[in-house]
Amino acid sequence: MRKNIVAGNWKMNTTLPEGIALAKAVNEALKNVDAKCDVVIGVPFTHLASVNEVIDKNKLGLGAENCADHRSGAYTGEVSAPMVASTGANYVILGHSERRQYYGETSETLKEKVKLALENNLTPIFCIGEVLEQREDGSYFDVVKAQVEEALFELSAEDFSKIILAYEPVWAIGTGKTATDDQAEEMHAFIREVIEKKYGKEVADNTSILYGGSCKPSNAKALFAKPNVDGGLIGGASLDAESFMGIVTAFE
Ligand code: 13P
Repeated sequence: MRKNIVAGNWKMNTTLPEGIALAKAVNEALKNVDAKCDVVIGVPFTHLASVNEVIDKNKLGLGAENCADHRSGAYTGEVSAPMVASTGANYVILGHSERRQYYGETSETLKEKVKLALENNLTPIFCIGEVLEQREDGSYFDVVKAQVEEALFELSAEDFSKIILAYEPVWAIGTGKTATDDQAEEMHAFIREVIEKKYGKEVADNTSILYGGSCKPSNAKALFAKPNVDGGLIGGASLDAESFMGIVTAFE
């Protein structure tokens, strides 16, 4: 059966010393709880190798927040999937709405990123989600379906099974305006149906679909109680070990 996962996305926050301290704090806190989910932190590229040294990877997974759509070469400033993997990271967040919105990421580039991540044994945490206008005009199911299909549906069933999805309605990110647990469940169930039509029931049932967008200790329990919500991708609340752990322990 699919895994429950709580993953942090630190975004462009923390200096290296701050990031190491935060990773250590999460790592320490995990020693004292019997976590009922996999726990991952997604950290800036600059922090990966150092954070990898201070965490127990049996208890805490490590991820990058992006990787390049090329393997290597003359792409100044880019960081490739092999580079990410060489730090010890085992996950990579791909297709975050901030990357789509501010850095022009498209399904075409994301397709390449997913392929390179998988080739390098990185588990993609692939983000999808509609903007407010699409929620309001009712096109949100079509938008999310297209995001999944365009970037992922050329994968074999075996490769698709390695992907974690994160539904992050853009209007809920960093706004304090969480989707209700019913809104999350409705979309997650829909996404699972879309997967089932393409890859069959077994693959669909085994795909973890996380919710992201103003997820906090106070709302995590209700969200995670929904049958199709398999955890969370956490922004702001992952920058504080205590609040992040408050979400991790929402799984009992
Ligand atoms: P917030 O939890 O800060 O709303 O961010 C969610 C997110 O974008 C995680 O990737």
